[in-house]
Amino acid sequence: MTIKRIFYIFIFLLTFAAAEVFSSSNPNNQKLISVNYPPDKTVMEFDLLGVSLSITEGSVDLIRAVLNDEAAIKIVPDSEIECFSVRLSVGTNRLHITAFKKGKQVGEVAIDVFRRSDLVSAYRSPPPGFKKDFFHERGGFQCAPCHVMEAVEADKKPVNIVSFRDETIEKDGSDTAPVSSTCYSCHKKMTSYLYVHGPTSVWSCLSCHDPGANPKYATKKPDDKVCFNCHTEQKKTWSSKKYIHGPVNIGNCAICHSPHASDNPFNLVKSSWKLCVSCHAGKGTGLHIFGGALFEDGHPTRGRPDPVRIGKEISCASCHNPHASDFPRLWAFEAQNPLELCRRCHTKYFK
Ligand code: HEC
Ligand code: HEC
Ligand code: HEC
Ligand code: HEC
Ligand code: HEC
Ligand code: HEC
Ligand code: HEC
Ligand code: HEC
Repeated sequence: MTIKRIFYIFIFLLTFAAAEVFSSSNPNNQKLISVNYPPDKTVMEFDLLGVSLSITEGSVDLIRAVLNDEAAIKIVPDSEIECFSVRLSVGTNRLHITAFKKGKQVGEVAIDVFRRSDLVSAYRSPPPGFKKDFFHERGGFQCAPCHVMEAVEADKKPVNIVSFRDETIEKDGSDTAPVSSTCYSCHKKMTSYLYVHGPTSVWSCLSCHDPGANPKYATKKPDDKVCFNCHTEQKKTWSSKKYIHGPVNIGNCAICHSPHASDNPFNLVKSSWKLCVSCHAGKGTGLHIFGGALFEDGHPTRGRPDPVRIGKEISCASCHNPHASDFPRLWAFEAQNPLELCRRCHTKYFK
């Protein structure tokens, strides 16, 4: 009886002593800074990544976050949780976070995040050990003290595609939607690009994302099931054409268009020319159409003013319709043969 008791006390003291030894041998063991989200080796589909850190209160007076080799984001912490977002490049990104107290480094943590892309074959699948994580499947308990975690009615603001333009112009560009949006507090950077898609610009996130889906907020696949809900005109016109461009035919709209926003017109994920060349690599050489035969450099496919679309540069989409056409080469201007196409821009030569 007593021997057993003494034994327990002994074990108890031993564990206690061991804990003491470990903690005093390594003062950083207290982990003054840690990442709540995302986990290391996460796979992301888009460029924006929201990050949330925990900091032991009062122990840190400056945080530096560096993504790859970009300029550091500096945060002076005023709470135990600090949040920020970064824009990922395609492929593996390293986020390196250091914490300082009175100019001395007191903590450090690094995570790797892989941004996948269907457009670049080398980045189509993640390296071993990386996996997709669905943030909204986690329940968000750690975030709930400060953020509203459940969607509200305002997140499904009705969007009328016909009157949309007039309505937004009327509102003078300043929209009040973020105030009522649940999603805004964490995804606020989503609209800070040059071109923002209509429903995203008014934070009508649930126009496309379903809170009842599995995983939560997943969109219907293929994408055209979502897009054609509003773009009914396009659906009608394109489906009446004889030829539909490969990726459009399988409903893969988001491979070319960001459903949210981008720095390219039409919310394209890359500039029009680069986008086409990602899949049609051979057409970007300058030898396209009549390579070498008539002119050494072939017909220009970029870098010259477009004679028809004044103010724009010529691109692949000047001669090809990116979606559908009645001609197999998907010629623009409803052209039925090459000569008709040439004529549209070269009115002098081709009569
Ligand atoms: C202690 C309160 C608090 C907690 C807990 C918290 N946040 Fe935040 N979060 C904030 C505040 C305040 C902001 C606004 C910061 C600003 O002014 O931009 C914010 C902003 C954000 C942003 C947007 C940052 C940006 O600038 O783009 C993201 C993403 C975010 N939080 C994610 C999370 C996640 C994920 C969790 C849970 C793991 C979480 N937050 C927990 C307070 C908190
Ligand atoms: C507490 C902060 C927070 C709020 C509020 C929030 N999100 Fe997120 N959401 C995140 C983070 C963090 C991620 C994962 C990293 C990233 O995409 O930045 C994420 C990811 C997602 C994803 C990708 C799938 C997933 O689960 O990872 C979708 C879709 C999404 N959010 C939609 C929404 C919508 C719609 C709303 C509003 C109804 C919303 N989110 C509100 C923080 C938040
Ligand atoms: C026009 C439809 C549409 C609207 C509006 C929209 N989204 Fe999305 N969103 C999508 C589609 C489509 C995807 C791509 C899903 C995929 O790749 O499987 C997506 C992906 C995302 C992702 C990233 C998923 C990932 O895997 O990384 C987040 C985060 C997200 N949406 C948040 C939002 C938020 C927040 C809003 C509101 C401001 C919003 N979305 C508005 C259609 C939309
Ligand atoms: C909830 C309705 C809605 C859904 C769903 C929707 N859109 Fe839109 N879309 C709009 C509105 C509104 C505009 C702005 C129209 C305007 O400016 O006149 C727009 C504009 C666009 C434009 C730019 C057009 C231009 O002339 O600049 C593109 C490209 C586009 N959407 C693609 C998509 C894609 C791809 C999807 C599916 C991922 C999609 N849309 C889903 C409502 C929607
Ligand atoms: C191969 C890439 C690609 C795919 C896939 C694609 N688009 Fe586009 N889309 C473009 C380009 C490029 C433009 C700009 C055309 C221009 O410069 O005139 C455009 C323009 C648009 C526009 C505005 C002009 C118009 O024609 O009405 C809408 C709306 C649109 N796309 C919706 C969609 C929808 C919906 C899908 C899926 C069914 C889709 N796109 C699939 C490349 C693509
Ligand atoms: C995601 C990959 C992808 C992107 C991006 C893409 N295409 Fe395509 N394209 C295809 C596929 C797949 C086909 C159908 C296979 C084929 O016929 O070669 C195709 C076919 C074509 C054709 C018809 C070829 C023929 O034999 O008649 C033309 C023209 C074309 N694309 C032009 C473009 C233009 C212009 C762009 C940019 C706006 C573009 N593509 C962007 C994948 C893509
Ligand atoms: C000045 C007009 C013009 C421009 C600009 C242009 N094309 Fe073409 N494209 C044509 C014509 C004409 C043909 C048909 C040539 C033939 O049948 O040999 C064609 C054929 C094609 C084909 C199908 C035939 C094949 O060889 O596989 C694809 C794919 C294509 N173009 C993609 C592109 C891409 C990608 C770009 C941008 C880098 C581009 N085009 C720019 C006029 C143009
Ligand atoms: C979308 C408009 C467009 C179409 C369609 C087009 N071109 Fe061109 N073409 C141009 C531009 C822009 C230049 C460059 C002019 C410059 O240097 O400023 C050019 C240059 C040329 C040149 C070199 C002589 C010159 O004027 O500089 C020839 C030859 C030519 N194109 C032939 C054709 C043929 C043949 C077709 C039909 C297969 C065709 N083009 C279709 C826009 C077009």
